[in-house]
Amino acid sequence: MHSFAKHRHSKSGKASTKITRGLILDTGWRYDLMEWFFDTFLFRGKLRELRQRTVDLAHLQPGEKVLDVGCGTGTLAMEVARRVGATGRVFGIDPGEQQIARARSKAARRNLSIEFQVGVVEHLDFPDQTFDVVISTIMMHHLSDSLKRQGLAEIARVLRSPDPASGKPGGRLVIADFKRPEERPAPPVRFGAGGSRIQDLAALVKNAGFLRVEIEEMQLPRFPAHSAGFASFVRADKG
Ligand SMILES: C[S@@+](CC[C@H](N)C(=O)[O-])C[C@H]1O[C@@H](n2cnc3c(N)ncnc32)[C@H](O)[C@@H]1O
Repeated sequence: MHSFAKHRHSKSGKASTKITRGLILDTGWRYDLMEWFFDTFLFRGKLRELRQRTVDLAHLQPGEKVLDVGCGTGTLAMEVARRVGATGRVFGIDPGEQQIARARSKAARRNLSIEFQVGVVEHLDFPDQTFDVVISTIMMHHLSDSLKRQGLAEIARVLRSPDPASGKPGGRLVIADFKRPEERPAPPVRFGAGGSRIQDLAALVKNAGFLRVEIEEMQLPRFPAHSAGFASFVRADKG
């Protein structure tokens, strides 16, 4: 999935908030084409299933305000917009300018109102407690552990806190990412990015102050070489 990957600072010029040491993908429609190829012939629809499961785990309600971090070309955000309906609001951020341009045009073609912005998870341009839900698919492995920590702290900041008066729990987080089989030696770290074991990611989520941290695994049964897992989900509530 990374054959078109670039590691560079954004051209947008808005220096401090847009620069990332994460692995940026910025290939617009070619990303969607490549993803379609991989999902059809290699993953047999599992990527599609992964996004569906992500939104299912988020238990989205009509009217909720949702942020997709590392939204790429916007496929997940569009599914979210359908679920939260016209009274909801959906935002997507990604450092790839072509990804954001592609996401905007896909949403416009489908008449979906989604606010896509160039941005990075480690510096979210939103006030504290803006969102009911933050979600992310196959983005975390683009970040080093220190960027993951910064990103999770930012996610916690922009999620709504629990309301003790009404008993309303805090905002919800769902992360889906490719799993790195434990048996396999760590892949060489390219561009400062790296996968992490799901237990490690769950520990980072917990350390960022989240409660009720749950893990779910998704298998790719066709390939014994991947039997240790295809992808995993972490679901948690802001504490
Ligand atoms: C494999 S793509 C996944 C995109 C999308 N979530 C999806 O499911 O198709 C990973 C995305 O993470 C983005 N990314 C890299 N570094 C990032 C950062 N620091 N903050 C937010 N997104 C980042 C990349 O630009 C890329 O679009």
